[in-house]
Amino acid sequence: MLNMNILTLDSSGDLNGLSRTISNLFLEKLVNTDSDVIVRDLVATPLPFVNFNNNYSNLQNILIQELKEADVIIISAPVYNYSIPAALKAWIDLVCVEGQTFNYVKDIAKGLLENKKVFVIATSNTSYDILTSHGMNDHQSYLRKVLGMIGIANVSFSHYSAKTPEDEAEEIIKANLDIAEINI
Ligand SMILES: Cc1cc2nc3c(=O)[nH]c(=O)nc-3n(C[C@H](O)[C@H](O)[C@H](O)COP(=O)(O)O)c2cc1C
Repeated sequence: MLNMNILTLDSSGDLNGLSRTISNLFLEKLVNTDSDVIVRDLVATPLPFVNFNNNYSNLQNILIQELKEADVIIISAPVYNYSIPAALKAWIDLVCVEGQTFNYVKDIAKGLLENKKVFVIATSNTSYDILTSHGMNDHQSYLRKVLGMIGIANVSFSHYSAKTPEDEAEEIIKANLDIAEINI
């Protein structure tokens, strides 16, 4: 796709962690000379939590504009306590705004965003499938739900599970195979 706008959101507390390494590999694959890329490191440059006493509307408008203009969004997010890191939740709470990214229709949120593709790179110690089969994968179910709320249904999850540097090396090989399959 030409002139593709790519937004990357990294949320691991480990600035050299596996999810960031793989997120960079996804970005390398998707980027081309016509792409506009915004990389938001939500940990190195944390966002404020919602606080009605603070005025961060300029920042919030910028974040919403970046999201609206993105064709592809790469979200790298380790599993933290069965769900997503708080750094990513802070971004979600700032961009999910009624009238901007969703509206209520008969009390049900209806997304206003269209034509976006999201790649979620999920890392964890326990395999994602095991978490899912035990009903403990709030990471995937939550991200699907909240992205769906703002109109993004085209979401693919790629999961990597590593406990040792050897595991990580294997997962990076697997990521490269996953990336080779991407065709947008
Ligand atoms: C605060 C915290 C909470 C975590 N909670 C979970 C968890 O609930 N389930 C799990 O499998 N791994 C959990 N982990 C492990 C990370 O998901 C795992 O190490 C992941 O590979 C880290 O990815 P990264 O290298 O991109 O930071 C947790 C790690 C941290 C720091």
